[in-house]
Amino acid sequence: MRIAMIGTGYVGLVSGACFADFGHRVCCVDKNSSKIDGLHRGIMPIWEPGLDGLVKSNVDRGRLTFTTDTVEGVKDAEAVFIAVGTPARRGDGHADLTYVFEAVRELAKVIKPGTVIVTKSTVPVGTGDKIEAILREEGATDVSVASNPEFLREGAAIADFKHPDRIVVGAEDDRAQNVLREIYRPLFLNRAPILITGRRTAELTKYAANAFLAVKISFINEIADLCEAVDADVQDVARGIGLDNRIGPKFLHAGPGYGGSCFPKDTLALLQTADEAGVDQRIVRTTVGVNDDRKQQMVERVQKALGGDVSGKRVAVLGLAFKPNTDDMRDAPSIPIVKALLDRGATVSAFDPVARHQAEPLLPGIEFADDAYAAAKGADALVIVTEWDEFRALDLDRVAASLNGKILVDLRNVYDRADAEQAGLTYYSIGRGKPAFPGA
Ligand code: UGA
Repeated sequence: MRIAMIGTGYVGLVSGACFADFGHRVCCVDKNSSKIDGLHRGIMPIWEPGLDGLVKSNVDRGRLTFTTDTVEGVKDAEAVFIAVGTPARRGDGHADLTYVFEAVRELAKVIKPGTVIVTKSTVPVGTGDKIEAILREEGATDVSVASNPEFLREGAAIADFKHPDRIVVGAEDDRAQNVLREIYRPLFLNRAPILITGRRTAELTKYAANAFLAVKISFINEIADLCEAVDADVQDVARGIGLDNRIGPKFLHAGPGYGGSCFPKDTLALLQTADEAGVDQRIVRTTVGVNDDRKQQMVERVQKALGGDVSGKRVAVLGLAFKPNTDDMRDAPSIPIVKALLDRGATVSAFDPVARHQAEPLLPGIEFADDAYAAAKGADALVIVTEWDEFRALDLDRVAASLNGKILVDLRNVYDRADAEQAGLTYYSIGRGKPAFPGA
């Protein structure tokens, strides 16, 4: 199959490289010439484990190319995937489809009849219909429009793409169905189920999946609060409920709230769609509120651990990216937490294995350290915000020796209380029994 991928963001670049790895011929198109120049030189615009090697091997085999020129990129394509950004529009949370529609207008002028246009970007219900209307307006005839939402996670993107739990295809005609079946045929060998639905259903499935996962996280975060109040352990509760197949063990890790480029944006966009449809989605609405409040609760936790006042205190923060194995800072819980600490008069030193360059412009006024121990040096408390693997096995004696105040606030529950206490640290976790804050 010959495929064009419009947009070389997370989803576009990973999908493009993986399709090429399946043996298809893929051309990735992006207007951003510095990104495309970089890709020609083997420089990835994002930090994703394994992506540089995958891109290189497929470029070397001649299956993966990059261009800024849409005409060149799509001229032979049987399928054109749209994977441009759909950020939340300022003010109303609605997904901003400007880039999607711009891409469609441009494509309308250059694609040949018989092409299948596929949205891979997360787009609200009805976007496929609007794309069809634009194509008609622009005089492009005999083009199919399908929806094929992507479910990969950052940090595990390649494995997720190659071993999906399912492939969802929203297609209204046989041609679109057949082209997409052919593109994903290599995955059928792994028995990945393909679910063919109507286009609107596929569009909504993506939002429903992300919203449900966001609900699961907020649910366990609230259960963690309850665990603290009644002296129970959320890790064991999560295991106890997660072993029930109907619930499942994943996405039950209590923490500082979900972040990233998807859950915050997609839950808001789902609410917007629901408002427009005149249907209330109370569970998702509440989830958004619970998650917003969560970050401030984490600041209170650090403040309580420090005796009720952070002003004049030095706080070391480990992990700034919204999750491990990425340099993505979009909607990272670290941002409101660090900002609130600074506002309340604390000094903040931070270390993140890869997100420093993304974090610097977002968090002016913090000191960046070169490793976890340097961040901890002289601090009154150490706060783990993102659970990078390298923070899971710190030498706690060394951490304690580096710290001024011997306080470890573990917002990701990566340590055992007994180990931390043995190193002489006062340990605060999330939802693991009643926290003994000083003066409480
Ligand atoms: C999420 C979905 O998991 C993907 O399936 C989807 O394709 C993607 O959004 C998207 O729509 O593009 P992603 O945002 O990359 O993927 O990362 P996740 O691993 O889902 O984590 C999201 C947030 O939830 C992170 O802040 C993470 O720390 C938090 N989280 C996750 C928890 O707090 N607890 C958990 O148990 C799991």
